[in-house]
Amino acid sequence: MTESQSFPAPATASAPGVKPMDAIMALCKRRGFVFQASDIYGGINGFWDYGPLGAQLKKNLRDAWWQDMIMNPCWGRKGPNGERVRCVPLETCIIQHPRTWEASGHVSGFNDPMVDCKETKGRYRYDHVMVYVPAGGEAGDKPVFAYVGDQPSESKQKKKAEKTFGAVRSVPLSSIPQPWARVIGPDAEKPGTLTEPRMFNLMFDTISGAIRDEANKVYLRPETAQGVFLHFKNVVDSTRVKLPFGIGNTGRSFRNEVTPRNFTFRSREFEQAELEFFCHPDESLDWYRFWRDFRMEWWKSIGLAGENLILREHDKDELSHYSQGTSDVEYRFPFTAPGFGELEGIAHRGCYDLTQHQTHSKVKLDYFDTTRGETLPNGGKKGERYIPHCIEPAAGLDRGALALICEAYTVDASRPSPEFLKLHPRVAPIKAAVFPLVDKDGMPEVAERLADDLFARFGRHGFIETDPKQSIGKRYARMDEAGCPFCFTVDGDTLKDQTVTVRDRDTGSQQRIAIDKVPGFLGERLGS
Ligand code: GAP
Repeated sequence: MTESQSFPAPATASAPGVKPMDAIMALCKRRGFVFQASDIYGGINGFWDYGPLGAQLKKNLRDAWWQDMIMNPCWGRKGPNGERVRCVPLETCIIQHPRTWEASGHVSGFNDPMVDCKETKGRYRYDHVMVYVPAGGEAGDKPVFAYVGDQPSESKQKKKAEKTFGAVRSVPLSSIPQPWARVIGPDAEKPGTLTEPRMFNLMFDTISGAIRDEANKVYLRPETAQGVFLHFKNVVDSTRVKLPFGIGNTGRSFRNEVTPRNFTFRSREFEQAELEFFCHPDESLDWYRFWRDFRMEWWKSIGLAGENLILREHDKDELSHYSQGTSDVEYRFPFTAPGFGELEGIAHRGCYDLTQHQTHSKVKLDYFDTTRGETLPNGGKKGERYIPHCIEPAAGLDRGALALICEAYTVDASRPSPEFLKLHPRVAPIKAAVFPLVDKDGMPEVAERLADDLFARFGRHGFIETDPKQSIGKRYARMDEAGCPFCFTVDGDTLKDQTVTVRDRDTGSQQRIAIDKVPGFLGERLGS
Protein backbone atom coordinates (compact mmCIF):
# COMPACT_ATOMS: atom_id res chain seq x y z
CA MET A 1 0.00 0.00 0.00
CA THR A 2 1.26 3.47 -0.80
CA GLU A 3 2.09 5.62 2.19
CA SER A 4 0.00 8.78 2.25
CA GLN A 5 0.37 12.07 4.06
CA SER A 6 -2.01 14.59 5.49
CA PHE A 7 -2.00 18.32 4.74
CA PRO A 8 -1.38 20.30 6.80
CA ALA A 9 0.65 18.30 9.28
CA PRO A 10 -0.80 17.97 12.76
CA ALA A 11 -0.39 21.26 14.57
CA THR A 12 2.62 21.43 16.81
CA ALA A 13 2.86 23.97 19.57
CA SER A 14 5.46 26.55 18.58
CA ALA A 15 8.01 27.90 21.02
CA PRO A 16 7.64 31.64 21.71
CA GLY A 17 8.93 33.66 18.76
CA VAL A 18 8.83 30.66 16.42
CA LYS A 19 6.47 31.03 13.46
CA PRO A 20 3.57 28.53 13.40
CA MET A 21 4.37 25.92 10.75
CA ASP A 22 0.78 24.71 10.47
CA ALA A 23 -0.39 28.27 9.63
CA ILE A 24 2.39 28.63 7.04
CA MET A 25 1.38 25.32 5.43
CA ALA A 26 -2.27 26.35 5.43
CA LEU A 27 -1.40 29.64 3.69
CA CYS A 28 0.69 27.71 1.14
CA LYS A 29 -2.33 25.61 0.24
CA ARG A 30 -4.90 28.43 0.42
CA ARG A 31 -2.96 30.71 -1.91
CA GLY A 32 -1.63 28.04 -4.25
CA PHE A 33 2.03 27.89 -3.28
CA VAL A 34 2.28 24.19 -2.38
CA PHE A 35 -0.15 21.28 -2.76
CA GLN A 36 0.44 17.74 -1.67
CA ALA A 37 1.12 15.55 -4.67
CA SER A 38 -1.84 13.30 -5.62
CA ASP A 39 -4.01 15.40 -3.31
CA ILE A 40 -7.35 13.90 -4.39
CA TYR A 41 -6.03 10.42 -3.57
CA GLY A 42 -4.97 11.44 -0.08
CA GLY A 43 -1.43 12.49 -0.97
CA ILE A 44 1.72 10.41 -1.27
CA ASN A 45 4.33 10.60 1.44
CA GLY A 46 7.43 12.58 0.53
CA PHE A 47 6.10 14.23 -2.64
CA TRP A 48 4.88 17.82 -3.03
CA ASP A 49 3.64 19.84 -5.98
CA TYR A 50 3.75 23.59 -6.47
CA GLY A 51 0.62 25.59 -7.26
CA PRO A 52 0.63 28.64 -9.59
CA LEU A 53 2.29 31.01 -7.10
CA GLY A 54 4.73 28.39 -5.78
CA ALA A 55 5.76 27.31 -9.28
CA GLN A 56 6.59 30.93 -10.15
CA LEU A 57 8.36 31.54 -6.81
CA LYS A 58 10.53 28.49 -7.41
CA LYS A 59 11.21 29.53 -11.00
CA ASN A 60 12.29 32.96 -9.76
CA LEU A 61 14.63 31.29 -7.27
CA ARG A 62 16.04 29.00 -9.97
CA ASP A 63 16.42 31.95 -12.38
CA ALA A 64 18.20 34.01 -9.71
CA TRP A 65 20.59 31.11 -9.11
CA TRP A 66 21.14 30.64 -12.85
CA GLN A 67 21.77 34.35 -13.38
CA ASP A 68 24.09 34.86 -10.40
CA MET A 69 25.95 31.55 -10.66
CA ILE A 70 26.21 30.95 -14.40
CA MET A 71 25.34 33.89 -16.65
CA ASN A 72 26.93 36.60 -14.49
CA PRO A 73 28.66 34.59 -11.78
CA CYS A 74 29.06 36.30 -8.44
CA TRP A 75 27.59 39.54 -9.82
CA GLY A 76 30.65 40.10 -12.01
CA ARG A 77 33.02 39.93 -9.07
CA LYS A 78 36.60 38.76 -9.55
CA GLY A 79 37.71 35.43 -8.07
CA PRO A 80 40.83 34.79 -5.95
CA ASN A 81 42.86 34.53 -9.20
CA GLY A 82 42.03 38.21 -9.90
CA GLU A 83 39.87 37.33 -12.91
CA ARG A 84 36.16 37.28 -13.62
CA VAL A 85 34.54 34.03 -12.48
CA ARG A 86 33.58 31.84 -15.46
CA CYS A 87 30.78 29.27 -15.49
CA VAL A 88 28.74 27.36 -18.08
CA PRO A 89 25.49 25.41 -17.77
CA LEU A 90 24.70 21.78 -18.47
CA GLU A 91 21.46 19.81 -18.41
CA THR A 92 21.80 16.11 -17.75
CA CYS A 93 19.45 13.13 -17.57
CA ILE A 94 17.87 11.82 -14.40
CA ILE A 95 18.89 8.32 -15.48
CA GLN A 96 22.55 7.73 -16.26
CA HIS A 97 24.61 4.59 -16.84
CA PRO A 98 24.33 2.54 -13.62
CA ARG A 99 28.12 2.41 -13.33
CA THR A 100 27.98 6.17 -12.63
CA TRP A 101 26.62 5.38 -9.19
CA GLU A 102 29.15 2.62 -8.56
CA ALA A 103 31.95 5.08 -9.33
CA SER A 104 30.43 7.86 -7.25
CA GLY A 105 30.06 5.56 -4.26
CA HIS A 106 26.26 5.80 -4.12
CA VAL A 107 25.65 2.07 -4.73
CA SER A 108 27.84 0.97 -1.85
CA GLY A 109 27.75 4.00 0.40
CA PHE A 110 24.48 5.94 0.07
CA ASN A 111 22.87 4.10 2.93
CA ASP A 112 21.09 4.96 6.14
CA PRO A 113 20.93 2.50 9.04
CA MET A 114 17.27 1.66 9.63
CA VAL A 115 15.28 -0.14 12.28
CA ASP A 116 11.99 -1.84 11.45
CA CYS A 117 9.06 -2.38 13.77
CA LYS A 118 7.62 -5.91 13.54
CA GLU A 119 4.31 -4.79 15.05
CA THR A 120 3.47 -1.69 12.97
CA LYS A 121 5.72 -2.40 9.93
CA GLY A 122 7.06 1.15 10.44
CA ARG A 123 10.66 1.84 9.39
CA TYR A 124 12.77 4.47 11.13
CA ARG A 125 16.19 5.97 10.70
CA TYR A 126 18.26 4.51 13.51
CA ASP A 127 19.95 7.80 14.29
CA HIS A 128 16.57 9.59 14.54
CA VAL A 129 15.06 7.27 17.14
CA MET A 130 15.11 8.53 20.73
CA VAL A 131 13.98 6.79 23.90
CA TYR A 132 12.35 8.18 27.06
CA VAL A 133 13.97 6.84 30.23
CA PRO A 134 13.55 7.92 33.89
CA ALA A 135 15.08 11.35 34.51
CA GLY A 136 17.26 10.19 37.37
CA GLY A 137 18.21 6.53 37.31
CA GLU A 138 17.49 3.28 35.56
CA ALA A 139 14.29 1.90 34.04
CA GLY A 140 14.82 -1.41 35.84
CA ASP A 141 12.67 -3.98 34.05
CA LYS A 142 10.02 -1.43 33.02
CA PRO A 143 9.55 -0.71 29.27
CA VAL A 144 11.07 2.43 27.77
CA PHE A 145 9.32 4.49 25.09
CA ALA A 146 10.80 5.28 21.66
CA TYR A 147 9.85 8.20 19.44
CA VAL A 148 11.24 9.75 16.28
CA GLY A 149 12.59 13.27 16.60
CA ASP A 150 9.79 15.73 16.00
CA GLN A 151 7.04 13.25 15.07
CA PRO A 152 3.64 13.77 16.69
CA SER A 153 4.02 10.41 18.49
CA GLU A 154 6.61 12.17 20.63
CA SER A 155 4.03 13.74 22.93
CA LYS A 156 1.93 10.56 23.07
CA GLN A 157 4.95 8.49 24.00
CA LYS A 158 6.13 11.12 26.44
CA LYS A 159 2.83 11.03 28.32
CA LYS A 160 3.03 7.24 28.59
CA ALA A 161 6.63 7.45 29.74
CA GLU A 162 5.79 10.09 32.36
CA LYS A 163 2.98 7.89 33.65
CA THR A 164 5.45 5.06 34.11
CA PHE A 165 8.46 6.99 35.44
CA GLY A 166 7.36 10.46 36.51
CA ALA A 167 10.05 12.81 35.20
CA VAL A 168 11.78 11.55 32.04
CA ARG A 169 14.78 12.40 29.89
CA SER A 170 15.38 11.30 26.31
CA VAL A 171 18.47 9.49 25.08
CA PRO A 172 19.34 8.08 21.62
CA LEU A 173 18.21 4.52 20.96
CA SER A 174 21.85 3.78 20.13
CA SER A 175 22.72 4.29 23.81
CA ILE A 176 20.43 1.41 24.85
CA PRO A 177 22.17 -1.98 24.74
CA GLN A 178 20.68 -4.63 22.47
CA PRO A 179 18.54 -6.72 22.41
CA TRP A 180 15.85 -4.08 22.84
CA ALA A 181 13.37 -6.37 24.58
CA ARG A 182 12.00 -3.50 26.71
CA VAL A 183 11.83 -0.81 24.04
CA ILE A 184 8.33 0.09 22.80
CA GLY A 185 8.62 1.28 19.17
CA PRO A 186 7.51 4.81 18.22
CA ASP A 187 4.05 3.75 17.08
CA ALA A 188 3.85 0.34 18.76
CA GLU A 189 1.92 -0.96 21.78
CA LYS A 190 4.06 -3.98 22.69
CA PRO A 191 7.75 -3.94 23.73
CA GLY A 192 10.53 -5.73 21.86
CA THR A 193 9.26 -5.24 18.29
CA LEU A 194 12.18 -3.17 16.93
CA THR A 195 14.74 -5.02 14.78
CA GLU A 196 18.47 -4.42 14.82
CA PRO A 197 19.62 -1.60 12.51
CA ARG A 198 20.12 -2.60 8.86
CA MET A 199 21.53 -0.59 5.98
CA PHE A 200 18.99 0.75 3.48
CA ASN A 201 20.06 2.29 0.15
CA LEU A 202 18.37 5.60 -0.58
CA MET A 203 18.46 5.37 -4.38
CA PHE A 204 15.25 4.65 -6.27
CA ASP A 205 15.75 2.03 -8.96
CA THR A 206 13.74 1.05 -12.00
CA ILE A 207 14.17 -0.94 -15.22
CA SER A 208 15.20 0.59 -18.52
CA GLY A 209 13.87 -1.34 -21.51
CA ALA A 210 11.43 -4.19 -21.95
CA ILE A 211 13.22 -6.96 -20.12
CA ARG A 212 12.82 -6.85 -16.38
CA ASP A 213 16.12 -8.26 -15.21
CA GLU A 214 19.03 -7.10 -13.05
CA ALA A 215 21.09 -6.23 -16.15
CA ASN A 216 18.57 -3.51 -17.05
CA LYS A 217 18.39 -2.00 -13.58
CA VAL A 218 18.98 1.76 -13.52
CA TYR A 219 18.77 4.41 -10.81
CA LEU A 220 17.04 7.76 -10.55
CA ARG A 221 19.84 10.21 -9.75
CA PRO A 222 20.21 11.10 -6.08
CA GLU A 223 22.10 14.29 -7.02
CA THR A 224 22.61 16.43 -10.13
CA ALA A 225 26.36 16.71 -9.52
CA GLN A 226 27.44 13.42 -11.10
CA GLY A 227 26.03 14.40 -14.52
CA VAL A 228 28.59 17.22 -14.52
CA PHE A 229 31.58 14.99 -13.77
CA LEU A 230 30.58 12.63 -16.60
CA HIS A 231 30.74 15.53 -19.08
CA PHE A 232 33.79 17.37 -17.75
CA LYS A 233 35.84 16.30 -20.78
CA ASN A 234 33.02 16.98 -23.28
CA VAL A 235 32.61 20.51 -21.93
CA VAL A 236 36.35 21.23 -22.08
CA ASP A 237 36.56 19.81 -25.62
CA SER A 238 33.44 21.51 -26.97
CA THR A 239 33.83 25.01 -25.52
CA ARG A 240 36.71 27.40 -25.03
CA VAL A 241 36.53 27.26 -21.23
CA LYS A 242 39.84 27.17 -19.43
CA LEU A 243 40.47 26.33 -15.80
CA PRO A 244 39.38 27.66 -13.38
CA PHE A 245 35.72 27.40 -14.39
CA GLY A 246 32.42 26.03 -13.14
CA ILE A 247 29.68 23.86 -14.62
CA GLY A 248 26.19 24.31 -13.25
CA ASN A 249 23.37 21.76 -13.37
CA THR A 250 19.85 22.08 -12.00
CA GLY A 251 17.02 19.57 -11.86
CA ARG A 252 15.11 16.90 -10.02
CA SER A 253 16.87 14.44 -7.74
CA PHE A 254 15.35 11.48 -5.96
CA ARG A 255 16.09 9.90 -2.60
CA ASN A 256 13.98 7.25 -1.00
CA GLU A 257 14.13 9.07 2.33
CA VAL A 258 12.98 6.79 5.10
CA THR A 259 11.29 9.50 7.08
CA PRO A 260 10.32 12.32 4.70
CA ARG A 261 9.01 15.11 6.85
CA ASN A 262 8.76 18.76 7.69
CA PHE A 263 6.72 19.74 4.65
CA THR A 264 8.99 20.01 1.60
CA PHE A 265 12.18 20.05 3.69
CA ARG A 266 12.91 16.34 3.35
CA SER A 267 11.13 14.98 0.28
CA ARG A 268 11.69 11.96 -1.90
CA GLU A 269 11.66 14.03 -5.09
CA PHE A 270 13.26 17.46 -4.93
CA GLU A 271 15.18 19.94 -7.02
CA GLN A 272 18.84 20.81 -6.75
CA ALA A 273 20.97 23.60 -8.18
CA GLU A 274 24.59 22.49 -8.09
CA LEU A 275 27.78 24.06 -9.35
CA GLU A 276 30.96 22.03 -9.78
CA PHE A 277 33.81 24.51 -9.90
CA PHE A 278 37.09 23.07 -11.24
CA CYS A 279 40.47 24.55 -10.42
CA HIS A 280 44.15 23.78 -9.88
CA PRO A 281 44.77 21.89 -6.59
CA ASP A 282 47.01 24.69 -5.29
CA GLU A 283 44.20 27.24 -5.67
CA SER A 284 41.40 25.04 -4.39
CA LEU A 285 41.35 26.23 -0.79
CA ASP A 286 41.08 29.88 -1.91
CA TRP A 287 38.22 28.99 -4.24
CA TYR A 288 36.51 27.00 -1.49
CA ARG A 289 36.56 30.04 0.81
CA PHE A 290 35.46 32.30 -2.04
CA TRP A 291 32.38 30.18 -2.90
CA ARG A 292 31.48 29.57 0.73
CA ASP A 293 31.39 33.30 1.42
CA PHE A 294 29.60 34.19 -1.81
CA ARG A 295 26.87 31.61 -1.27
CA MET A 296 26.11 33.00 2.16
CA GLU A 297 25.94 36.52 0.70
CA TRP A 298 23.68 35.29 -2.10
CA TRP A 299 21.06 33.81 0.19
CA LYS A 300 21.06 37.07 2.14
CA SER A 301 20.59 39.05 -1.09
CA ILE A 302 17.26 37.35 -1.82
CA GLY A 303 15.73 37.90 1.58
CA LEU A 304 17.22 35.56 4.16
CA ALA A 305 19.31 38.17 5.93
CA GLY A 306 19.26 38.15 9.71
CA GLU A 307 19.91 35.81 12.57
CA ASN A 308 17.90 32.95 11.02
CA LEU A 309 20.74 32.32 8.55
CA ILE A 310 24.13 30.94 9.54
CA LEU A 311 27.21 29.50 7.89
CA ARG A 312 28.42 26.40 9.70
CA GLU A 313 31.91 25.16 8.97
CA HIS A 314 32.19 21.40 9.46
CA ASP A 315 34.67 20.14 12.04
CA LYS A 316 37.72 18.29 10.72
CA ASP A 317 36.29 14.95 11.92
CA GLU A 318 33.10 15.51 9.88
CA LEU A 319 35.04 15.81 6.59
CA SER A 320 35.47 13.06 3.99
CA HIS A 321 39.05 11.88 3.61
CA TYR A 322 39.44 13.79 0.31
CA SER A 323 37.95 17.06 1.52
CA GLN A 324 39.81 20.09 2.84
CA GLY A 325 36.61 21.80 3.95
CA THR A 326 32.83 21.75 3.92
CA SER A 327 30.38 24.33 5.19
CA ASP A 328 26.63 24.45 5.27
CA VAL A 329 24.42 27.46 4.81
CA GLU A 330 21.72 26.76 7.38
CA TYR A 331 18.35 28.37 8.05
CA ARG A 332 16.40 28.34 11.29
CA PHE A 333 13.11 26.83 10.06
CA PRO A 334 10.14 26.90 12.48
CA PHE A 335 10.42 23.10 12.79
CA THR A 336 14.17 23.12 13.49
CA ALA A 337 14.14 26.08 15.90
CA PRO A 338 16.07 26.80 17.99
CA GLY A 339 18.32 24.70 15.74
CA PHE A 340 18.99 25.09 12.02
CA GLY A 341 18.42 23.01 8.88
CA GLU A 342 20.73 22.77 5.84
CA LEU A 343 19.86 24.84 2.76
CA GLU A 344 23.07 24.32 0.87
CA GLY A 345 26.37 22.52 1.34
CA ILE A 346 29.62 23.97 0.00
CA ALA A 347 32.14 21.16 -0.27
CA HIS A 348 35.77 20.93 -1.25
CA ARG A 349 35.65 17.59 -3.11
CA GLY A 350 39.31 17.47 -4.08
CA CYS A 351 39.88 15.33 -7.20
CA TYR A 352 37.72 12.49 -5.82
CA ASP A 353 34.89 12.42 -8.39
CA LEU A 354 36.93 12.88 -11.57
CA THR A 355 39.44 10.29 -10.35
CA GLN A 356 36.67 7.80 -9.55
CA HIS A 357 35.06 8.21 -12.99
CA GLN A 358 38.43 8.03 -14.71
CA THR A 359 39.16 4.74 -12.93
CA HIS A 360 35.72 3.22 -13.59
CA SER A 361 35.30 4.43 -17.20
CA LYS A 362 38.99 4.13 -18.17
CA VAL A 363 38.60 7.49 -19.96
CA LYS A 364 41.24 10.09 -19.10
CA LEU A 365 39.63 12.99 -17.25
CA ASP A 366 42.74 15.04 -16.58
CA TYR A 367 43.33 18.54 -17.87
CA PHE A 368 46.29 19.98 -19.77
CA ASP A 369 46.92 23.46 -18.44
CA THR A 370 48.96 25.53 -20.91
CA THR A 371 49.40 28.38 -18.42
CA ARG A 372 51.52 26.31 -15.99
CA GLY A 373 54.78 24.41 -15.86
CA GLU A 374 58.30 25.52 -16.70
CA THR A 375 58.84 28.67 -18.73
CA LEU A 376 60.16 27.85 -22.21
CA PRO A 377 62.91 29.83 -23.99
CA ASN A 378 60.21 31.51 -26.14
CA GLY A 379 58.53 32.81 -22.96
CA GLY A 380 55.64 30.35 -23.21
CA LYS A 381 54.88 27.63 -20.67
CA LYS A 382 55.64 23.93 -20.96
CA GLY A 383 52.20 23.07 -19.59
CA GLU A 384 51.03 20.87 -16.72
CA ARG A 385 48.68 17.88 -16.75
CA TYR A 386 46.57 17.28 -13.66
CA ILE A 387 43.17 16.19 -12.38
CA PRO A 388 41.43 19.36 -11.27
CA HIS A 389 40.06 19.83 -7.80
CA CYS A 390 36.38 20.59 -7.45
CA ILE A 391 34.51 22.99 -5.18
CA GLU A 392 30.82 22.23 -5.03
CA PRO A 393 28.15 24.68 -3.85
CA ALA A 394 25.08 22.36 -3.78
CA ALA A 395 21.76 24.08 -3.06
CA GLY A 396 18.26 22.68 -2.66
CA LEU A 397 15.62 24.76 -4.42
CA ASP A 398 12.69 23.33 -2.46
CA ARG A 399 14.39 24.03 0.85
CA GLY A 400 15.30 27.46 -0.54
CA ALA A 401 11.69 28.21 -1.48
CA LEU A 402 10.50 26.95 1.90
CA ALA A 403 13.01 29.13 3.75
CA LEU A 404 11.92 32.17 1.71
CA ILE A 405 8.27 31.51 2.58
CA CYS A 406 8.99 30.92 6.29
CA GLU A 407 11.15 34.06 6.50
CA ALA A 408 8.54 36.12 4.65
CA TYR A 409 5.58 34.90 6.73
CA THR A 410 4.49 37.77 8.99
CA VAL A 411 1.57 38.15 11.35
CA ASP A 412 0.15 41.57 12.14
CA ALA A 413 -3.36 41.51 13.56
CA SER A 414 -3.81 45.23 12.90
CA ARG A 415 -3.68 44.80 9.12
CA PRO A 416 -6.55 43.88 6.79
CA SER A 417 -4.67 40.66 6.04
CA PRO A 418 -3.32 39.58 9.43
CA GLU A 419 -0.99 37.10 7.70
CA PHE A 420 1.17 38.31 4.84
CA LEU A 421 4.37 37.40 3.00
CA LYS A 422 7.27 39.86 2.92
CA LEU A 423 8.89 38.12 -0.06
CA HIS A 424 11.90 39.82 -1.61
CA PRO A 425 10.69 41.55 -4.83
CA ARG A 426 13.21 39.53 -6.88
CA VAL A 427 11.59 36.21 -5.98
CA ALA A 428 7.99 37.32 -5.38
CA PRO A 429 5.71 35.46 -7.84
CA ILE A 430 3.37 38.46 -8.27
CA LYS A 431 5.48 41.48 -9.13
CA ALA A 432 2.76 44.12 -9.02
CA ALA A 433 -0.99 44.65 -8.98
CA VAL A 434 -2.84 47.45 -10.73
CA PHE A 435 -6.28 48.38 -9.41
CA PRO A 436 -8.91 50.84 -10.54
CA LEU A 437 -10.27 52.40 -7.33
CA VAL A 438 -13.79 51.82 -8.67
CA ASP A 439 -14.97 49.77 -11.61
CA LYS A 440 -16.24 52.79 -13.62
CA ASP A 441 -15.50 56.35 -14.79
CA GLY A 442 -12.70 55.26 -17.16
CA MET A 443 -10.52 53.96 -14.32
CA PRO A 444 -10.57 50.26 -15.40
CA GLU A 445 -9.34 51.22 -18.88
CA VAL A 446 -6.39 53.25 -17.52
CA ALA A 447 -5.54 50.43 -15.10
CA GLU A 448 -5.66 47.85 -17.91
CA ARG A 449 -3.31 49.96 -20.04
CA LEU A 450 -0.83 50.33 -17.16
CA ALA A 451 -1.05 46.60 -16.40
CA ASP A 452 -0.38 45.76 -20.07
CA ASP A 453 2.64 48.04 -20.02
CA LEU A 454 4.03 46.41 -16.85
CA PHE A 455 3.26 42.96 -18.20
CA ALA A 456 5.22 43.64 -21.38
CA ARG A 457 8.21 44.72 -19.32
CA PHE A 458 8.14 42.45 -16.27
CA GLY A 459 5.82 39.60 -17.24
CA ARG A 460 8.73 37.21 -17.78
CA HIS A 461 9.65 37.54 -14.08
CA GLY A 462 6.17 37.02 -12.60
CA PHE A 463 2.50 37.89 -12.59
CA ILE A 464 1.07 41.37 -13.02
CA GLU A 465 -2.40 41.23 -11.47
CA THR A 466 -5.46 43.36 -12.07
CA ASP A 467 -8.61 43.17 -10.00
CA PRO A 468 -11.48 45.68 -10.22
CA LYS A 469 -13.81 44.00 -7.70
CA GLN A 470 -14.35 44.39 -3.92
CA SER A 471 -13.14 47.11 -1.59
CA ILE A 472 -9.62 48.40 -2.16
CA GLY A 473 -8.66 47.22 1.36
CA LYS A 474 -9.68 43.66 0.54
CA ARG A 475 -7.74 43.77 -2.71
CA TYR A 476 -4.61 44.99 -0.91
CA ALA A 477 -5.08 42.25 1.67
CA ARG A 478 -5.21 39.53 -0.99
CA MET A 479 -2.03 40.85 -2.57
CA ASP A 480 -0.25 41.09 0.80
CA GLU A 481 -1.03 37.49 1.58
CA ALA A 482 0.38 36.40 -1.79
CA GLY A 483 3.56 38.44 -1.22
CA CYS A 484 2.99 41.03 -3.98
CA PRO A 485 5.37 43.90 -3.13
CA PHE A 486 3.61 46.84 -4.83
CA CYS A 487 0.04 47.80 -5.69
CA PHE A 488 -0.71 50.73 -8.02
CA THR A 489 -4.16 52.30 -7.80
CA VAL A 490 -5.80 54.38 -10.48
CA ASP A 491 -8.32 56.83 -8.98
CA GLY A 492 -10.22 60.00 -9.82
CA ASP A 493 -7.06 62.14 -9.61
CA THR A 494 -5.27 59.90 -12.12
CA LEU A 495 -7.66 61.07 -14.80
CA LYS A 496 -6.82 64.70 -13.97
CA ASP A 497 -3.09 64.71 -13.20
CA GLN A 498 -1.79 61.39 -14.59
CA THR A 499 -0.56 60.14 -11.22
CA VAL A 500 -1.31 56.88 -9.39
CA THR A 501 -1.02 55.72 -5.81
CA VAL A 502 1.70 53.22 -5.09
CA ARG A 503 1.26 51.17 -1.93
CA ASP A 504 4.17 49.39 -0.29
CA ARG A 505 3.29 45.92 1.04
CA ASP A 506 5.66 45.93 4.01
CA THR A 507 4.84 49.33 5.47
CA GLY A 508 1.35 49.86 4.03
CA SER A 509 2.48 53.41 3.21
CA GLN A 510 1.25 55.13 0.06
CA GLN A 511 2.71 57.79 -2.23
CA ARG A 512 1.70 59.30 -5.53
CA ILE A 513 3.88 59.01 -8.60
CA ALA A 514 3.41 59.92 -12.25
CA ILE A 515 1.88 57.04 -14.18
CA ASP A 516 4.68 57.13 -16.75
CA LYS A 517 7.25 56.70 -13.96
CA VAL A 518 5.66 53.42 -12.78
CA PRO A 519 7.73 51.02 -14.97
CA GLY A 520 10.98 52.72 -13.85
CA PHE A 521 9.88 52.69 -10.21
CA LEU A 522 9.07 48.97 -10.36
CA GLY A 523 12.15 48.03 -12.42
CA GLU A 524 14.46 49.64 -9.86
CA ARG A 525 12.88 47.69 -7.01
CA LEU A 526 12.69 44.36 -8.80
CA GLY A 527 16.32 44.62 -9.84
CA SER A 528 15.39 44.16 -13.52
N1 GAP B 1 26.10 16.82 -4.58
C1 GAP B 1 26.08 17.05 -3.18
C2 GAP B 1 24.76 16.87 -2.58
O1 GAP B 1 23.81 16.40 -3.20
P1 GAP B 1 23.47 17.16 -0.34
O2 GAP B 1 23.85 17.95 0.89
O3 GAP B 1 23.12 15.73 -0.14
O4 GAP B 1 24.72 17.32 -1.31
C3 GAP B 1 22.42 19.26 -1.47
O5 GAP B 1 22.31 17.90 -1.09
C4 GAP B 1 21.15 20.00 -1.11
O6 GAP B 1 20.02 19.33 -1.67
C5 GAP B 1 20.86 20.05 0.38
O7 GAP B 1 21.56 21.11 1.02
C6 GAP B 1 19.37 20.28 0.41
O8 GAP B 1 19.06 21.65 0.23
C7 GAP B 1 18.90 19.51 -0.82
N2 GAP B 1 18.35 18.20 -0.40
C8 GAP B 1 19.03 17.08 -0.14
N3 GAP B 1 18.19 16.08 0.21
C9 GAP B 1 16.94 16.60 0.16
C10 GAP B 1 15.63 16.09 0.40
N4 GAP B 1 15.43 14.81 0.73
N5 GAP B 1 14.57 16.91 0.25
C11 GAP B 1 14.74 18.21 -0.11
N6 GAP B 1 15.96 18.74 -0.35
C12 GAP B 1 17.04 17.96 -0.23
